[in-house]
Amino acid sequence: MRYFATLLLACLLIACSSPLVGVPENGKRWYFMHNCYACHGKNANNGKAPKIAGLHMNYSNFNRRLRNAKSAIMPEYPDNKISDQDVADILSWLKSLE
Ligand code: HEC
Repeated sequence: MRYFATLLLACLLIACSSPLVGVPENGKRWYFMHNCYACHGKNANNGKAPKIAGLHMNYSNFNRRLRNAKSAIMPEYPDNKISDQDVADILSWLKSLE
């Protein structure tokens, strides 16, 4: 019994620590679908809001930034709007830009 509990715990730890791998092509789609472009621009560097193309931000900070924007202008995107996977996708697309 204890053996199985240990095994289960090990599996959970591995599953939880494996980072989400973003897919840039999908990220581009979510970026337009969620209207990020309306403020940040179609190339993410040509809108009224700050440039986020080539963003230097790690996944957890980016995720926190979207979930809790603390902004009077930028809306918040809870995970029932944009999933963690989609957040990873958007970030990978932004990082692929100049
Ligand atoms: C209504 C306009 C608006 C929309 C829509 C919007 N943003 Fe923003 N965003 C802003 C503004 C303005 C700022 C900077 C000032 C602030 O935080 O209020 C910002 C800041 C950010 C930052 C922080 C940049 C930095 O260098 O710290 C990130 C990342 C970001 N936005 C990503 C996104 C993503 C991804 C989307 C779509 C899911 C999005 N934004 C949608 C207006 C917007």
